[in-house]
Amino acid sequence: MQNSAVTARAHTNIALIKYWGKKDQQLILPMNGSLSLTLDKFYTDTSVEYLPNLNADVFYLNGTEVADPKITRFMDIVRQKTRSSNYALIKSTNHVPTAAGLASSASAYAALALAATAAAGQNFSLTELSRLARRGSGSATRSIFGGFAEWLPGTDDQSSYAQPLDFQTDWDLRMIAIVVDALPKKVSSRHGMQTVVETSPFYPAWIKSATQDLAAIKQAMQNNDFQRFGEIAESNALRMHALNLSAVPHFNYFEPQSLIAMQAVENLRAAGISCYYTMDAGPNVKVICKNKDLDVILDKLHHYFPSDHLLVAAAGPNVKLL
Ligand code: PMV
Repeated sequence: MQNSAVTARAHTNIALIKYWGKKDQQLILPMNGSLSLTLDKFYTDTSVEYLPNLNADVFYLNGTEVADPKITRFMDIVRQKTRSSNYALIKSTNHVPTAAGLASSASAYAALALAATAAAGQNFSLTELSRLARRGSGSATRSIFGGFAEWLPGTDDQSSYAQPLDFQTDWDLRMIAIVVDALPKKVSSRHGMQTVVETSPFYPAWIKSATQDLAAIKQAMQNNDFQRFGEIAESNALRMHALNLSAVPHFNYFEPQSLIAMQAVENLRAAGISCYYTMDAGPNVKVICKNKDLDVILDKLHHYFPSDHLLVAAAGPNVKLL
């Protein structure tokens, strides 16, 4: 085992076909496959150092010590997989504009998976890292890879991991994150997805339609059909949010400004500009477009949102050691 700190960087991702429900809570196996785009603009840097004198893991997030049992649980899995026993000093920094609501567990666990295994002197493949990151947070399984990544749901630990999709589209994609003012997250993704699995009468229909959406969006990418690609992503996101509205108790992630953003995108489309929206477990709306249309879309969105609430990202890279 090495005794020096190892630092890794992983980027957040935005799901275009959503993961929203587990079939195995402990292993974090999803009900359906999902597909995402890793983003260059938002990332987490995490350093890990195993220290023989520690009697517990110590975790700093953005310079402040935090007690997080999820991190300890994850590190126990790392120790088991790397056959090591020392506790670690972990320092994590989120490079996400303050209050963007994009600070995601995806980049956090992807960076931690690489830093923690490399600091233990092990050289995990990207596939092994993807399986490991999944144990921290489902969406982290996809953040190991840059560009488009598909999470194969699998049936056990071994078969559930992400893989990159190297379709050659000529879209030069951009994603505009519209930062919507909000109170802290109303319902955690863990709790939200479990509630819909257990209570939404629409859940079986979701699995069926999300599976079809995944196949159809890959076909659209293969066909270089941006309109179809965007339509499927937008519809898939709305169906995920419809599950939340249909749960008992029902919940939602919309703020008034989220609806304004969605309407603005639909108005842009009605005016002939090709752009589509998606939303995760929070109120921010993410707009997917081609780079050539970026300026006109930003111009329009500026009518409703200040420019520091409009963050533009492009495709980001694989997880890496710094
Ligand atoms: O893996 P979690 O707990 O961060 O859940 C992610 C859920 C969504 O972001 C809403 C969808 C997804 O596939 O990323």
